[in-house]
Amino acid sequence: MIIAVDGPTASGKGTIAKALAAHFGLPHLDTGLLYRAVGRQVQLNGGDPDDPDAALAACAFPDALLDDDILRSEEVGGFASRVSVHPAVRHALYERQRAFALQEGGAVLDGRDIGTVIAPEAPVKLFVTASVSERARRRWLEMQGRGIDVPLAAIERDIAARDARDMGRKDAPLKPADDALVLDTTHFGREAAIEAAIEAVLAKAGRA
Ligand code: DC
Repeated sequence: MIIAVDGPTASGKGTIAKALAAHFGLPHLDTGLLYRAVGRQVQLNGGDPDDPDAALAACAFPDALLDDDILRSEEVGGFASRVSVHPAVRHALYERQRAFALQEGGAVLDGRDIGTVIAPEAPVKLFVTASVSERARRRWLEMQGRGIDVPLAAIERDIAARDARDMGRKDAPLKPADDALVLDTTHFGREAAIEAAIEAVLAKAGRA
C-alpha cells in the first residue's frame, strides 16, 4: 500500500507520516529532505538557489549529506523551497522518489506533490494542514526547545512566504490531490492527529 502524505511546512505531515509508517510497518521517505539536500549543496557550492543551472548541479549531492542535521535548519528550508521551483530539479529527484513509492510491499512518502505527481495512484492520500499562525506557534515552540530564540512574527512571515512559493510555482504546486483527504490539525494535539490519520488510512484501505 502506498500512503501519500502532503501538506505545507510545519503542518505535522512529517510526524504523521512517521507514525503511519511505524503503525503499518512500512518504510518512510521524507522527500523534503531531498530538496533540503539540494538547497544545502547549492549553498556549499557557493551558488544561487534561484539559478536553475546551479540548482541542477547541486542535485548530485552525496548521500551522506542526508544525515547532516543542518538540513533541518530554517535557512536550508528556505533554500530548499527556492531550488524546488525549478522543473529540472524536480525531474532530477523524480526517479528516486518514484522507485521508493513502488517498492514491494508499499511505502509512506511525505512531501508536497506525492499524491499529485510522484504516486498519483496511491490508494491513500492525506493532505495535512493547519492555520499559518498555529504552524508558526508549533515551529516557534520547537525552536525554543532547541534553544533558538526567533520572534514568533518572523517565523509566521517566513512560513507565509514559503507557502506562497510552494503553492504558486508552476511545476507541481502544493495542492491537495482531488481524491485526498484533507486533515486540518489546527485544533488537534499530536496524538489526536495521528489517531485521525490512522483511522483515515484504515477507512480508505478498507474500501480499496
Ligand atoms: O517539507 P520540507 O519543509 O522539508 O520541504 C522543504 C522544501 O522542499 C519545501 O518548501 C518545498 C520543497 N519540497 C517540494 O517541493 N516537494 C516535495 N515533495 C517536498 C519538499
